Formats: sequence, structure tokens, C-alpha cells
Amino acid sequence: MIKVLFVCLGNICRSPLAEAIFNAKVKESNLLSSFKSDSAGTSDFHIGELPDERTIFTGKKYNLEMNHRGRQVNRTDFRDFDYIIAMDDNNLRNLNNMKTRYGFPDKEIFLMRDFVPGSEGLSVPDPYYGGDEGFEEIYKILDVALDNFLTKVKETHQLYV
Ligand code: 4NP
Repeated sequence: MIKVLFVCLGNICRSPLAEAIFNAKVKESNLLSSFKSDSAGTSDFHIGELPDERTIFTGKKYNLEMNHRGRQVNRTDFRDFDYIIAMDDNNLRNLNNMKTRYGFPDKEIFLMRDFVPGSEGLSVPDPYYGGDEGFEEIYKILDVALDNFLTKVKETHQLYV
């Protein structure tokens, strides 16, 4: 079982959407038995909450299943997940600080858009304070990045279905 954790700040916009898109791709690829995914926030702002209503709307639009509740990244995540993927530079920096504090200094943390040739180092922009179009934008960014990520993981782990 390959475990993947998507991380943003609040865990109500980008990371739950990433999780839902990824799950749909895994299902399409007939690889449900090979993956477990989850999402979490670096902050404690929205613990226990449903995703933002605009996240839910975007999920419905693209036929995605979403039943996540906000949670904060914790120590055991660094032990339990094979891939921890940050949405932006801030999340990446926070996760890299946390992993050392929690005793996993060598754990590699990934940045979502590093999976997209030509977009390395870029952020999945935080849509929280913007308008609805920001959610459409992050959907498109995540859709491409997660295709690339899944392809890479299938190669790395030799998953052929
Ligand atoms: P997310 O978006 O990190 O993609 O879930 C945000 C959600 C909430 C806040 C910021 C970003 N907030 O400041 O409450």
C-alpha cells in the first residue's frame, strides 16, 4: 500500500481537492487496492470542518467524491506516509521544520508543481481569499500535476494494471 498525504494551510481548499482528484485517478487506473490517500493542514484553523463550500462545489462539478474533515499534520504522518506533498513554499517550509522537530529529519517532502516540467518551484495558489475562478484554476493545476505524479509513482513502484 502506497500512502500519500496532500498538505496545504487550512485543509479545506487545495489539499482536500487534491485528495479527491487523486482518488478519482487511482480508481480510473484500477489501482484502488494499491493506494491510501489523505490530506491535512499545517494550521489548526479548520480542524473538524468540511471543505470550503467552493471546494465542494468544484468537486461536484467534476464528479469527485469528497468526505474529508479538516485535520492538522501531526508527528505520525511523517512516519506513516510514503509521499507527503505540499501545495506551496510556505507549506513546504513548515513541513521541513516540523519533520526535524518530530524526529524525521531525512524525510523527503515534495512540492506539488515539481511534478510538472516547466512549473517546478511554483505554488498551487491559495484560493481562499479570492473568487470562484481561483478554484477552477487550482482544479486545472492539480489535474495535470496529479496525472504526472501518478505516472511517476506507477513507474517507481512498477504498478502495471
Ligand atoms: P487551503 O486554503 O490552505 O487551500 O485550505 C486556506 C484555507 C483557509 C485559510 C487559508 C487558506 N485561512 O486563513 O483560514
